[in-house]
Amino acid sequence: MPSPDVAQSAAAQRPLTSFDPQIRRLLAGMTLDEKIGQMAQPDQEFLKSPEEVKSYFLGSLLSGGDSDPRAGNGLTAWTDMIDGYQKAAVTTRLRIPILYGIDAVHGHNNVIGATIFPHNIGMGATRDPGLVERAARITSEEVRATGANWVFAPCVTVPQDIRWGRTYEGFSESPDVVKALGAAAVRGLQRDSLDDPLAVLACVKHFVGDGGTAWGSSGKGMLDQGDTRVDEATLRRIHLPGYVTTVKAGAGTIMPSYSSWNGEKVSGSEKLMTGILKNEIGFQGFLISDYAAIDQLPGNYKQQITRSINAGMDMVMIPKKYVEFITTLKQCVQEGQLPMVRIDDAVTRILRTKFALGLMNAKRSPLADRGLHNAFGSEGHRAVARECVRASLVLLKNDNQALPLANSAAHIHVAGKSADDLGNQCGGWTIRWQGASGRPTDGTTILEAVQRAVSPKTRVTTSVDGSGVGDAKIAIAVIGEKPYAEGMGDTADLHLAPEDVATVTRLKNSGAKVIAVILSGRPVFIEDILPHADAVVAAWLPGSEGDGVADVLFGTYKPTGKLSFTWPKASSTTLHRGDAGYETLFDFGTGLSY
Ligand code: GLC
Repeated sequence: MPSPDVAQSAAAQRPLTSFDPQIRRLLAGMTLDEKIGQMAQPDQEFLKSPEEVKSYFLGSLLSGGDSDPRAGNGLTAWTDMIDGYQKAAVTTRLRIPILYGIDAVHGHNNVIGATIFPHNIGMGATRDPGLVERAARITSEEVRATGANWVFAPCVTVPQDIRWGRTYEGFSESPDVVKALGAAAVRGLQRDSLDDPLAVLACVKHFVGDGGTAWGSSGKGMLDQGDTRVDEATLRRIHLPGYVTTVKAGAGTIMPSYSSWNGEKVSGSEKLMTGILKNEIGFQGFLISDYAAIDQLPGNYKQQITRSINAGMDMVMIPKKYVEFITTLKQCVQEGQLPMVRIDDAVTRILRTKFALGLMNAKRSPLADRGLHNAFGSEGHRAVARECVRASLVLLKNDNQALPLANSAAHIHVAGKSADDLGNQCGGWTIRWQGASGRPTDGTTILEAVQRAVSPKTRVTTSVDGSGVGDAKIAIAVIGEKPYAEGMGDTADLHLAPEDVATVTRLKNSGAKVIAVILSGRPVFIEDILPHADAVVAAWLPGSEGDGVADVLFGTYKPTGKLSFTWPKASSTTLHRGDAGYETLFDFGTGLSY
């Protein structure tokens, strides 16, 4: 249900190809070294100095997970670092600014103090494109405040097996939900026009079928970066729609996946990258490889480079061996393995986005607008994130109207390992690549939110293990998963941790009414606690604004969230959707209200 106050920007972006006449003139005067530099993206953490941006004519840098400023993690340190690289770029002969890319996947989540939104699995439960667009607009503004101008988002994966550690980066198991919300995210990030000073270049990922890999097909014997073994019709039906709608929304870049399709690495597939994406769908921007993804292709380094770039890869996220990459790529061109027409096409596509961003407009500075620092992580931004949290919660059980709670209760006990843990609330991709329990950034925990929501007369007590309930008639258990990212989150076991089950059981034995709030990056097995909880709320990974959870628990906001993933039974013998042996506990679309 779209938010009333966002007229979804229907304005289409200016066609990227409209810049080609200017690009042709620029390209004609570029040396091979300058062209190759545009196609290289090192991770800044491996650069010896900003001067290397100049000496290698680098077109882009990224901060991958944990790639923080050497001066430490703060708004000014990030802004000074990125501006430093940009200043080096514009002292080159052609003064072409860099694209600085970062994984702002649920807010500007690398930077301490940023507004942290619910991860996509929660946004999927809102079913609200307007809300997704508003969240993306705030994210783009906070990213621009640091001088970055490119985000590796939205992820339009369509996870088919929730044992995958990246399930939470997906909006849904349903391509219909993914294609709508993915397009909304692109509109929010890129705004009505990419040359809006608050716009950032989007990067739709990971093309294609990253969420459909077969169990056991990955190098580590599970799912991440594995093999998607489906026919073309299934690949098109489930995994492609998000690319059609986001390209139509004007997405400037797309990131091919580490994974394979029927045994062929996507990052080396001409059929997928050029045949389908560029020729059939008409994508006019550029393809950026995943982090060192071309190293996974068959053959030696020259063969990996030529295979991927000839297949349609335009820029390579190296990220460490950038000198070797640049040298080898140049050899491949000089030896005729990579035709200059392909190099020129790749550089044209890259420059299209730079022109579209207004970076090539000499009248505009590519440096950060530090005036945006005032609104960074502001109350106004956090209020929108709180709206997202409220709308993302899914009420799975509510016996005898256990919810909503009265905020005037004499005594409420809040228990669980995640009751007062902002890190668990935010999940992976938060300050640290893998995320971290504790308090990694600014925000409001669920315990703090409850304390703020109740009347002055109400006593709020807390414990991790559920002890100390005393005379409380209401007990809230905040339990679930600890942070993880990518393949580190792959698992065969979705049972709740024993300490979570013990906490809920202890609360039930106290005689109190028990409300279970589950923080998780995917559906988890909850039969161990279901009999002991009067109400169960799936809160996903809500981010920094715990007040949004209290809004639902105390009825300030009636729950509207709907499951965007089917919720399985623990007795399932497989968790790959559609396979025999998958048993459903709650159907896709489930969600109670008051
Ligand atoms: C990671 C992820 C990708 C991310 C990139 C840069 O390995 O696969 O989603 O954008 O590297 O951090």
